[in-house]
Amino acid sequence: MNLDEADQLDRRRANEVPIHGAEAFAGMRRAGRLTAEALDLLCEHVRPGITTQELDDLVSGFAADHGAFCATLLYRGYPRSICTSINHVVCHGIPNDRPLRDGDILNIDVTLILDGWYGDSSRMFFVGEVPRKAARLCDVTHECLMRGVQAVAPGRTTNAIGAAIQSHAERERCSVVRDFCGHGLGRVFHDAPTILHYVEPSYDVLLKPGMLFTIEPMINLGRPQVKVLSDGWTAVTRDRSLSAQFEHTVGVTETGVEVFTFSPKGYHRPPYDVRA
Ligand code: MF3
Ligand code: CO
Ligand code: CO
Repeated sequence: MNLDEADQLDRRRANEVPIHGAEAFAGMRRAGRLTAEALDLLCEHVRPGITTQELDDLVSGFAADHGAFCATLLYRGYPRSICTSINHVVCHGIPNDRPLRDGDILNIDVTLILDGWYGDSSRMFFVGEVPRKAARLCDVTHECLMRGVQAVAPGRTTNAIGAAIQSHAERERCSVVRDFCGHGLGRVFHDAPTILHYVEPSYDVLLKPGMLFTIEPMINLGRPQVKVLSDGWTAVTRDRSLSAQFEHTVGVTETGVEVFTFSPKGYHRPPYDVRA
């Protein structure tokens, strides 16, 4: 989510982070799994020639078939059911009728609401054969997400997540986007805590069992700066370098972390080994 928006949230909530119980974890498990299943379905459809609008239609149909709602549709005026961010688009790309092209990389971000609980996850996809530097960026970004996830445990802090992500990205000569962040969620889309993907002591929060949030690093091959296009949503890299993102919804447990949005089919990062 956008960091300015998160700042407003945090001020309103005075940094009070909701602590959720077993019932919430059960609801999040179901919403997270359905969200992951929607992304698994997309793995079987992304190829040269398909349009991002067709992918949007697939997810809205899947949601309807399973009694779920797409959280982004009409969220603050956003016009579609998913976000599709291609190549130098960092996030919040709007599905349209342009066919995907061989060599594109794209992020698809799905947020499903099931029985009131929000599951929020995104993955990168390869369209046909992609350049080696694009595949490397996707690998680095997935590794950043998983290192961030592994940094979650009660008694640690949100800055440990940022440190794990930033150190890996920069060691690989990539940069971490600053203008968007992970976010608390549950029965709402965006809540405290704000999860930065870099170290910033003024945002540090102690992690406690029962906290629910996303980790969703956006990593660029070039410089970290982004700008938002005139549609009010599409964020792109200022230097037009490639950008990648993966996102999981997680909960802090008594002993560590639970990931709600793992792929049931093992489609963790591209290339996905899909049976045709
Ligand atoms: N799913 C995005 C996130 O991870 C939010 C998309 S909001 C939209 O926070 F309005 F752009 F769709
Ligand atoms: Co999110
Ligand atoms: Co998302």
